Amino acid sequence: MNKVTDENRQGEAIMTAPVEGTSKKLYLESYGCQMNFADSEIVASILREEGFSTTQNFEEADLIFVNTCAVRDNAEQRVRNRLNEYNRVKRKNPALLIGVLGCMAERLKGKLLEEEKLVDMVVGPDAYRDLPNLIKVAEGGHKAINVILSKEETYADITPVRLDTNGISAFISITRGCDNMCSFCVVPFTRGRERSREPQTIINEAKDLFARGYREVTLIGQNVDSYLWAGGGLKKDTYTSDELKEVTRFDQLLEMVAMTLPQMRVRFSTSHPKDMTDEVLKVMARHKNICKYIHLPVQSGNSRILEKMNRGYTREWYLDRIAAIRKYMPDCGISADIISGFCSETEDEHKDTLSLMEAVGYDFAYMFSYSVRPKTYAERNYPDDVPAEVKNRRLQEIIALQGRLSHESNLKDVGKVFEVLVEGTSKRSDAHFSGRTSQNKVMVFPKGNFKPGDYVQVKVSSCTAATLIGQAVEQEAFA
Ligand code: SAH
Ligand code: SF4
Ligand code: F3S
Repeated sequence: MNKVTDENRQGEAIMTAPVEGTSKKLYLESYGCQMNFADSEIVASILREEGFSTTQNFEEADLIFVNTCAVRDNAEQRVRNRLNEYNRVKRKNPALLIGVLGCMAERLKGKLLEEEKLVDMVVGPDAYRDLPNLIKVAEGGHKAINVILSKEETYADITPVRLDTNGISAFISITRGCDNMCSFCVVPFTRGRERSREPQTIINEAKDLFARGYREVTLIGQNVDSYLWAGGGLKKDTYTSDELKEVTRFDQLLEMVAMTLPQMRVRFSTSHPKDMTDEVLKVMARHKNICKYIHLPVQSGNSRILEKMNRGYTREWYLDRIAAIRKYMPDCGISADIISGFCSETEDEHKDTLSLMEAVGYDFAYMFSYSVRPKTYAERNYPDDVPAEVKNRRLQEIIALQGRLSHESNLKDVGKVFEVLVEGTSKRSDAHFSGRTSQNKVMVFPKGNFKPGDYVQVKVSSCTAATLIGQAVEQEAFA
């Protein structure tokens, strides 16, 4: 579970499963975070209406869309390599249209069309409703671009076409954008202002998923704790007392989803340490179907670096939030994102990150070395002065420590029984199912008579650093 670095998560490409439709073929590839994957499902839905079906082979596509991530430089380099590959196909088939969607489109805007000449269309994350029109422009032989960010768009009324799905778990977008301005981060520039989606549309989407056999939803946003619906969606600084009566906060939304669908597991991501309230923790503790797992990115274990990152909390505040999680849910799984070698980080400050990891005992972590992003506060104001080899060595130390922590965390589970939601056949063995515990750990166990979507009580017999291995002890109804 520890081998997650720059190479994973925000760099993974997932190709889409075929979707029924007619004539024209779309190849859609997605990079980046869960938000991008959820957006690709919106894009597929909009294009299905236009008569596109998806293909898994870009050589036979009429249209290639790559939904991109700009969070670190290596994520962008990977996309550039892919665009070069698509352009080789285009030389043989000039009618092929290539479009860049998502965060890199928003960051680079017209540059992708003018300087780099790699693409026909550039479409930012808030402009997907304009795709049918942009495709027509491109089909007419013109370059097409729409990178206008919106303060309202949530695509709330569009039913996503579920892509690359196991049929059991799905993401539901609850907020878009981010207002936090962490000094290292490009997301506020690529995704725009934070806005929340109307609660009823979220609940309806969850109900629809349940009716179609899904048994787990993850409510997603860059900072779910700042979810706030006040009639209009866009968060304001102050509210009248009448408006406050109508407000829905994240803890309330979470409880509404959990109570509407008691048979559905509910997860969420990402929590922000400065905004995570005890109310959310209490709601989690109250409802069995809300998974006992929190992804709480820390970034650094040192208060000076955290301040420079503009994260809005100190090491002590973060550790207090961890103590609160443990108080309400002693069995809660906890993971984090960590950055090594941020501007001016000293060796002692890096050691603070290691000691914080040890103090929390993370079950899992996503670990990165700092990558300068154009236009961010850090890029404009702080020299990127930790040499690459130092950043990397610190990252390796972080990864090695997390490897030990993940293994220790799994060893503690040996002999215990966990409820596992079966997701599908294990990648390594046809005779085994794979699913996750409430704490988000992957469990592998012999198939027996179970099927995907079942909740199974599984006793852990052994483990690796990444996986729990067990045997079913009984099949119990989820209630
Ligand atoms: N909204 C989430 C994170 C979104 S980006 C949060 O606030 O926690 C996912 C992760 O990428 C971040 O948590 C951070 O660890 C990493 N990241 C973002 N910008 C980065 C950069 N410039 N260099 C290295 N890692 C970065
Ligand atoms: Fe980026 Fe910070 Fe917003 Fe997360 S909270 S998306 S790290 S600016
Ligand atoms: Fe990447 Fe954009 Fe997500 S920059 S991490 S795809 S919001």
